[in-house]
Amino acid sequence: MPKKETLSDLALAPRKSGATLFRWLYDELRTAIVDGRLKPGSRLPSSRSISRQHRIARGTVVSAFEQLTSEGYLVNHVGSGSYVKGIVPDGLLRATREKVPERIEQSRATLSARGRCLSGFPFFPIRWTSGSSPAFRVGQPALNDFPTSLWSRIAARRLRGVSASMLSRGDVLGYRPLRVEIANYLGSYRGIKCTPDEVVITTGTQGSLDLICRMLLDRHDKIWVENPGYPGASALFRASGLEVVPVPVDAEGLDCKNGRRLCENAKLAYITPAYQFPLGVTMSLSRRLEMLQWAQSVGAWILEDDYDGEFRFADRPLVALRSLDTSGCVIYSNTFNKVLFPTLRLGYLVVPPRLIEPIAAAKAVIDRFPGVLEQAILCDFIAGGYLGQHIRRMREIYASRLEVLVEGAKRDLAGLLELSPAGAGMHTIGWLADGIDDNDAYELALSRGIEVIPLSKFSEKPFEKQGLVLGFASSDVRALRRGVTGLAGVLRELKRGKKTKS
Ligand SMILES: Cc1ncc(COP(=O)(O)O)c(C=O)c1O
Repeated sequence: MPKKETLSDLALAPRKSGATLFRWLYDELRTAIVDGRLKPGSRLPSSRSISRQHRIARGTVVSAFEQLTSEGYLVNHVGSGSYVKGIVPDGLLRATREKVPERIEQSRATLSARGRCLSGFPFFPIRWTSGSSPAFRVGQPALNDFPTSLWSRIAARRLRGVSASMLSRGDVLGYRPLRVEIANYLGSYRGIKCTPDEVVITTGTQGSLDLICRMLLDRHDKIWVENPGYPGASALFRASGLEVVPVPVDAEGLDCKNGRRLCENAKLAYITPAYQFPLGVTMSLSRRLEMLQWAQSVGAWILEDDYDGEFRFADRPLVALRSLDTSGCVIYSNTFNKVLFPTLRLGYLVVPPRLIEPIAAAKAVIDRFPGVLEQAILCDFIAGGYLGQHIRRMREIYASRLEVLVEGAKRDLAGLLELSPAGAGMHTIGWLADGIDDNDAYELALSRGIEVIPLSKFSEKPFEKQGLVLGFASSDVRALRRGVTGLAGVLRELKRGKKTKS
């Protein structure tokens, strides 16, 4: 005769607030079976006795038994009661959590070659402070100034009017009305003439780069990147098995002649001509023409990342490189994740017409499209004129924050750090005085809660000057002033230390 368990033997955990009696009893019995505390073949107490012992309605106990029986944990013998099923292998019943290997190499050994490649190139090997908006955080917009109430009103209106067709269907290239808005916006603000069909909605720059890698590049293809440059792009290119060729950037942007010398037959050049990341130089017109001429002569693609193109403070934004392209070799990429907020995860590509159909077919098997509701909310935001308004407002805020940084640097950082003359973007470069190492500055600043990024972290090949990348967009004036004073203390200390050593 199998042993009859009593629930008091089983030490059931107390019921959590909010859990129904059914949920509690079901979970506790199931866990007792899975953990092996209720052995296969053992008989459960009758529903009547559980009901009495735990003061639960008998119907609730019967429902929990029925649920466990239908899921295969219990078997019911008429007239004799409910038993833990014996056919589930012991190992499965005693399911424990998978042991996490101690060393990363052990985890990676189980991956495919592609998985190893993808996980082998960290996006950015840097530690951050724990603050949510420290003084110099790079790449973060002024989130406290985002019009959240307006955004939620637009979202609520959309949700109230949502139709069955919006819930059931979506276009793989993206929500068409959004693509219409983007095409109009690009015509007015970035000088790009394109049709909505050439616009492909993605989850942002990373998603766009991944799509382009899959569609246009094969393993071992060579690809120009800017040096220093955006590590998010080179990490993805390396993870895609491409050979990354770092090409130096000078005062006019990526040095095309140098690129040709290093690797004439690259398949693609990834560039940030509006506001080079991270140096902040704008690619000159002659360089742009040189780039186009090179791409046409060797049949290469140019991937133009226009991530900060909207934010020029003193002069009008330059038109995009894409607007000069007559041969269809430029793919334009932009993102709403920086101009609006980073968790939005919406960006887009403008692709030459010959790529539209293959990209649509490929997206149908990769990821189809980002959530249509988010796309529709963004569409209403742009159609209402709020994107233009937001950009203008952010431009003013960022310009005034940059001014505070420039003034603070003049006052407190003279002889320690010289700011690059920036007139755009969301970050700038501070060139360090001779003898101060950018990694030392990063480590000491971090230990004091100040977040700066050493320029060398963006460089594939050593860069001749030591500098720090300083974001100025996300923090208010007081935080910036505090940051400048703190950074001055850090740099002074490093300079003093250097002198005493030498
Ligand atoms: C050069 C550059 N492009 C694009 C992005 C934004 O990428 P995503 O849209 O994937 O967030 C960043 C973010 O810092 C960036 O620095």
